[in-house]
Amino acid sequence: MQHMANVLITGHSRGLGAALTAQLLGEGHRVLGISRMPALGLGHAPRDQFHELSLNLGQPSALSQFLNSSIVTDFFKNAQKSILINNAGLLGPIGAFGGLDHEQILQSITVNVGAVLALSNQFIGATLRCPDRRIVHISSGAGRSAYAGWGVYCASKAALDHHARCLTLEHPLGLRIESIAPGIIDTGMQAQIRATSLDQFPMRPKFDQLKENGALAAPEAVARKLIKHLLGDQFGTEPCTDLRDS
Ligand SMILES: NC(=O)c1ccc[n+]([C@@H]2O[C@H](COP(=O)([O-])OP(=O)(O)OC[C@H]3O[C@@H](n4cnc5c(N)ncnc54)[C@H](OP(=O)(O)O)[C@@H]3O)[C@@H](O)[C@H]2O)c1
Repeated sequence: MQHMANVLITGHSRGLGAALTAQLLGEGHRVLGISRMPALGLGHAPRDQFHELSLNLGQPSALSQFLNSSIVTDFFKNAQKSILINNAGLLGPIGAFGGLDHEQILQSITVNVGAVLALSNQFIGATLRCPDRRIVHISSGAGRSAYAGWGVYCASKAALDHHARCLTLEHPLGLRIESIAPGIIDTGMQAQIRATSLDQFPMRPKFDQLKENGALAAPEAVARKLIKHLLGDQFGTEPCTDLRDS
């Protein structure tokens, strides 16, 4: 029998996270979404199935306060299948090192890495009795290939990949983890790339062209493929994967 899962997802308000949240709810899973803003269009979801929390994952004090509460433990209590989707991510600051805003560097690293590691730690501790627990880090091809102007983003995604490799070696009981590059998706993050100056990001024309050629994947299609893989038996076989290969 397929158990419905309890799913904590970050960055559920827009883009890939919103598409994942809508489809998970449609399949009957229970979802706790964490973003700064609420998700649009999900207000009709039953209250016992969908909860949203407004939290700035880039603020260490707010994040600590959340982790010191019992919210994560309560949400996963008695779940037969527990899932953490670390999806929230920031692309900026974009540009050459030496001219970046250090506050933005710290915020990005906190959202993209610090919050992911702290949430994973909390999740693993809170789900010790759950027979099937899974963590997905939404990584990027940028964690595996270097791009001038994306030093902060590339470093943060490479950190997620390496974290998944380390956790795999710790063999937490019943836990599977995978850091997945989802491919290039038509979201606000891609619009942000196309709005960058060539000085900040010399590779921008490649991304302009992908949009012009209709080569960006729809968030709904990526979400469908990701959920199928996430709930499948092969999930976690390799710590670092690319969704385009599955
Ligand atoms: N789009 C692509 O082509 C692509 C390619 C490879 C990997 N990815 C990865 O896929 C994931 C989703 O990307 P996307 O394209 O859907 O991005 P997006 O459209 O920019 O959405 C980002 C999500 O992260 C949340 N978020 C950002 N900062 C936050 C903060 N400080 N606290 C809490 N939540 C925060 C946003 O919610 P609020 O603004 O409401 O807080 C939003 O829901 C990211 O990890 C990204 O790196 C994307």
